Amino acid sequence: MEVKERFIKKYKEGCMPWAHEKPDINLVTTVQKHPVKACKALEIGCGTGTDAVWLAGQGFRITALDVSEIAIGLARQQAKQAGVRCRFHVADFLNDKIDGAPFRFIFDRGFFHTFDKLFQRKAFAEKVASVLSDGGLWLSLIGSADDPPRKRGEGPPQRSALDIVKATEHRFEILSLSTSLFGSDQPQPARNWVCLMRKR
Ligand SMILES: C[S@@+](CC[C@H](N)C(=O)[O-])C[C@H]1O[C@@H](n2cnc3c(N)ncnc32)[C@H](O)[C@@H]1O
Repeated sequence: MEVKERFIKKYKEGCMPWAHEKPDINLVTTVQKHPVKACKALEIGCGTGTDAVWLAGQGFRITALDVSEIAIGLARQQAKQAGVRCRFHVADFLNDKIDGAPFRFIFDRGFFHTFDKLFQRKAFAEKVASVLSDGGLWLSLIGSADDPPRKRGEGPPQRSALDIVKATEHRFEILSLSTSLFGSDQPQPARNWVCLMRKR
């Protein structure tokens, strides 16, 4: 089963352990610390929309997409409740035309890391580069291989720093790659990589 089909099925089953009520702290601190100025931005694989809604609240003109209709329905409800404007679309990031490109800032939490093979992660990085302005930034939150090994489905996929660098460095300058924990509602959040990149 393809990655996107796996996720569509999970949402239908109501299984979405990655969903979180508060914006991921790694996004919040990177945007505030770097700082990433409010701009035209895209979240890919936005799920139920918590982080896109936070970005909209910070003044970002945000488009957010997900392949799951259920996820986008929930995301639209969150934006309505928060009273912010986000453009949410049901779209397949890898195969569909992305309306509104190019963007100055792209964010993904747990989407890039779903691809097991280097060629898939490279293709993903190429697609990100194709919808990012020159010099634009990509922030990716990625499950870390430094946690004890997990079986598939028992938590976020686990990637090494080398997995990330090999797939992205030809198209992106890696500005920072640091180890952290997912900002999460779970009692024991998984370790992650916080990777901020600039398009070459
Ligand atoms: C691990 S979830 C993370 C969701 C959200 N970013 C969060 O942290 O709550 C990965 C997301 O990527 C979405 N996804 C998978 N393949 C996709 C594709 N080809 N195009 C767009 N979204 C996709 C899934 O539906 C899912 O919502």
